[in-house]
Amino acid sequence: MCNCILLGPPGAGKGTQAKILTKRFGIPQISTGDILRAAVKEQTPMGIQAKKFMDEGALVPDSVVIGIVEERLVKPDCSSGFILDGFPRNVEQADALKQVLLRTGKSIEHVISISVDKEELLSRITGRRTCRSCGKGYHIAFDPPEVPDRCGECGGELYQRDDDREETIRKRLEVYEEQTAPLITYYGQESLLRNVQGTGSIEDIQSEIVGIVEGKGRNT
Ligand code: AP5
Repeated sequence: MCNCILLGPPGAGKGTQAKILTKRFGIPQISTGDILRAAVKEQTPMGIQAKKFMDEGALVPDSVVIGIVEERLVKPDCSSGFILDGFPRNVEQADALKQVLLRTGKSIEHVISISVDKEELLSRITGRRTCRSCGKGYHIAFDPPEVPDRCGECGGELYQRDDDREETIRKRLEVYEEQTAPLITYYGQESLLRNVQGTGSIEDIQSEIVGIVEGKGRNT
C-alpha cells in the first residue's frame, strides 16, 4: 500500500514524479491542479470560479479543493493506494484531510517533501511544456520532446500553462513559502516527513522516492 503526499514548491517535480510512481505502483495520481485545469477547460461552474485564483497565482478556496479530494479518495481505484500531488496546500487543508481519512478508514504513510532552489524552479517552470491530449510533461531544455512541440507518447500538441508566466510564478512561489511550507513542520511533527533533494536526474530522484515508498529510505 502506498498512500503518500508529494509536497514541494511549484516546479519541484511533483507531477513528474507522481506520473512515474503511478505507472510503477498502479495507483492513481490525485493532482488538484490537473483536476482544476480540466474544470477550467470545460468551463464548469467550479472551473469558472477557480480560474481567477489560478491566473493570479493564488490558492483556490479550501472549500472547493477539499470537496474535490474527498470525492476522489472514495473512488475504488484508491483502494490500493494514491499519490496526492499539490494537496494539501495549507494547514486548513491538512486538517481537513485528516478528517476525510478518518471517515474513509485510510491513512497517510509518507509525506515526501521535494526541495529545489528558487532559480532552478523559475527555469523549470518557464521551460515546462505539457501535452494537451495525455498530460505528459516536458521541459524544453532538460527533458525535451523528440519532435518539437509534439508529445513523444501520443503525438498530442504541447502547450505552456497560463500560470507559467514569470510574474505569476513569483506569486505562486510566495504563496508556497507563506502557506504551504509550514506543512513541512506540520508533517515533521507527525513523523511522516521524508526529505528528498529535487535536483539531479529525474531517474535518480525517482529511485530515492521509490526507496522511501518501499520502506528502504532513511527517516529525516
Ligand atoms: P499545481 O498544478 O498543483 O501547480 P504547482 O504546485 O504550482 O506545481 P507545478 O505543477 O507547477 O510543479 P510540479 O512540482 O508538479 O513540477 P513538474 O513535475 O511539472 O497548481 C496550480 C494552481 O492550481 C495553484 O497555483 C492554485 O491556484 C491551484 N491549486 C492546485 N491545488 C490547489 C490546492 N490544493 N489548494 C488551492 N489551490 C490549488 O516539473 C516542472 C518542470 O520541471 C517540467 O518541465 C519538468 O519536465 C521539469 N523537471 C521535473 N523534474 C526535473 C528534474 N529532476 N530535472 C530537471 N527538470 C525537471
